[in-house]
Amino acid sequence: MTETQHKPDRAEPLIYITALQSEQLAAAKALSMQYGWPLAQTQDDQWALQLQPDKLVLRRADGLAYHIDFLHGKAAKHAREADLSRQPLARAMGLRAFKKRFDRMPVVADVTAGFAQDAWLIAALGCHVHLVERLNVLYEMQNDARRRVLEYEPGSLSSIIAGRMLCHLGYATQWLQNTSDNKPDIVYLDPMYPATNKKALVNKGMQILHDLAGPDHGNEALLAAALATAQYRVIVKRPKGAPHIVGSDAWGGQLTTINSPATRFDVYHVTN
Ligand SMILES: C[S@@+](CC[C@H](N)C(=O)[O-])C[C@H]1O[C@@H](n2cnc3c(N)ncnc32)[C@H](O)[C@@H]1O
Repeated sequence: MTETQHKPDRAEPLIYITALQSEQLAAAKALSMQYGWPLAQTQDDQWALQLQPDKLVLRRADGLAYHIDFLHGKAAKHAREADLSRQPLARAMGLRAFKKRFDRMPVVADVTAGFAQDAWLIAALGCHVHLVERLNVLYEMQNDARRRVLEYEPGSLSSIIAGRMLCHLGYATQWLQNTSDNKPDIVYLDPMYPATNKKALVNKGMQILHDLAGPDHGNEALLAAALATAQYRVIVKRPKGAPHIVGSDAWGGQLTTINSPATRFDVYHVTN
């Protein structure tokens, strides 16, 4: 598998790049050159990506900050858990049935990867997962978090999980259309949903993502590309009570749902 480097054509919010210590300055300059992000010492009222010795921190203009951490918290817990198969996402993926039928784990394309929390869980379940993200800053954060696991904990369960992840910068529909020789078994979609109230944004990460990425349009084309590409299933994550993704009316195949307290997974069965 090779990494895809592709420049999205959508304008991202202006992100300043800062280095906490002089040791991170060279890397900060490289990112600044690559993406045209202005390099700054400190930036109090702008979006900023701060290079720290042990993490890449994304800071919103009001100071709310987030970094992807696969070494602690929920991600570390997922890495340690022997049996994640009862997780709603695992059930939506139909992992047991897939393994029984094909004697291997499915290859998954998470083409709306965001902060890669779902992608980590999918990899912890034993699947190789392609992460596709259209925003440069999120792609860099995913890749950085993944690299740090491999660097800080070589040989660990977490590093095995990180080794199953491959990050791609680009647009989902285009990426899916280019996979003709190597189609994923499962395509996973979690597009941005317009938040009707702040309570829907359950954590810091979602609040930041919501402001950074904005609501997604064009889900119809995305679903069509996913259905044309997936060999086994397409899974769409929706907030509980939300309508099906736009374009689902045109799907004539089996559609089931798996519910968890705040989330619903819509499962489009491409093969039964
Ligand atoms: C709700 S977030 C995904 C959160 C993710 N599941 C997680 O666990 O962190 C949606 C993400 O998909 C990205 N996205 C939306 N449409 C996309 C597209 N067509 N191609 C690539 N990325 C897309 C957005 O930029 C955003 O980062």
